[in-house]
Amino acid sequence: MARLSSIKIHLNINIMRERIRNKFQELFATEGSVYASPGRINLIGEHTDYNGGFVFPGAIDKGMIAEIKPNGLDKVRAFSVDLNDYAEFGLKEEDAPKASWARYIFGVCREIIKRGGDVKGFDTVFAGDVPLGAGMSSSAALESTYAFALNDLYNLNIDKFELAKIGQSTEHNYCGVNCGIMDQFASVFGAKGSLIRLDCRSLEYKYFPFNPVGYKLVLLDSVVKHELASSAYNKRRQSCENAAAAIRRNHPEVEFLRDATMDMLDEVKNDISAEDYMRAEYVIGEVQRVLDVCDALEKGDYETVGQKMYETHYGMSKQYEVSCEELDYLNDIAKKCGVTGSRVMGGGFGGCTINLVKEEKYDAFIKEAFKSYTEKFGHEPKLYEVVISDGARKLA
Ligand code: GLA
Repeated sequence: MARLSSIKIHLNINIMRERIRNKFQELFATEGSVYASPGRINLIGEHTDYNGGFVFPGAIDKGMIAEIKPNGLDKVRAFSVDLNDYAEFGLKEEDAPKASWARYIFGVCREIIKRGGDVKGFDTVFAGDVPLGAGMSSSAALESTYAFALNDLYNLNIDKFELAKIGQSTEHNYCGVNCGIMDQFASVFGAKGSLIRLDCRSLEYKYFPFNPVGYKLVLLDSVVKHELASSAYNKRRQSCENAAAAIRRNHPEVEFLRDATMDMLDEVKNDISAEDYMRAEYVIGEVQRVLDVCDALEKGDYETVGQKMYETHYGMSKQYEVSCEELDYLNDIAKKCGVTGSRVMGGGFGGCTINLVKEEKYDAFIKEAFKSYTEKFGHEPKLYEVVISDGARKLA
């Protein structure tokens, strides 16, 4: 199985590489260097990153790949193979391109320049196989690809954390999403076969080899697209900050919701909106669940891991309200089929559920999920088996 998967990864990358090579030749009549960065999964710890809490992501075998070569000009000439779209833009703040895909590349250049990095014009062609808007961080994969590549090509000596932060600032300043650090961190720091527990306040991290013998980790994509910028993501973050600020008045040591307890939250129940209270209640529970899952993993106790995943789904659906009918339905099917753990993954508002399934229950679960989901919503979900893979890298 592992061998088959790695052959598949190889094939995918090779096909994409061939496609971008051909296009790069056609457009620029030369050859550049090739870089790749992955999307991510997250076992548990959603919406905890911007609350200073813990997350538990891993990089996956799907991502973005780009060919790049400095062009001696003062502009970037970029082509997206998947969107069949071309953009040209300068590197000054006022040169921001209109196309949203190009803003990610522009944003990364700007963020490097703002940090004193000497980025000049380049030509680039890129493609990806991480589904867009499915909660697997296609945008972080794109940002990390360019942050990593420009750092390497221009010998900027930017450390890996700063590369991740460059991606995050791109989201904040050029794409309208006030995201945390999880996605970019996972895309840069990913390591084959390991999940990573990250403390999003101290930025301490630990690799956990993840090989749940007898289980499979599978994503079911509802195919409901999420759009974090236009969604309520930023509003959720605001609610958390409101709650933390109210708690801080009584407990000055509380920097983030990560530092708060339910008792502290209850003290300010009447000072904050019912909505902000509910959001904070979810976050305080979720921060603890990540730690519980780490303990359970160290004991090989996947039943507890799974139970925590269900608790997270409940919280994301009923307290944080970032699920949707389709994802709740997939979660219900998982429960009915005896799946060990299942929950909505990533920012929410659409995208995938992540499921930890015993091997002997896998076939029946997938069959039932496809049948019931298609009957109810008129279209199939998509299935991705997860292979935990390496982070940002140079391919050639
Ligand atoms: C998105 C954001 C992350 C994180 C998750 C939810 O993926 O980019 O920073 O907040 O949502 O856990």
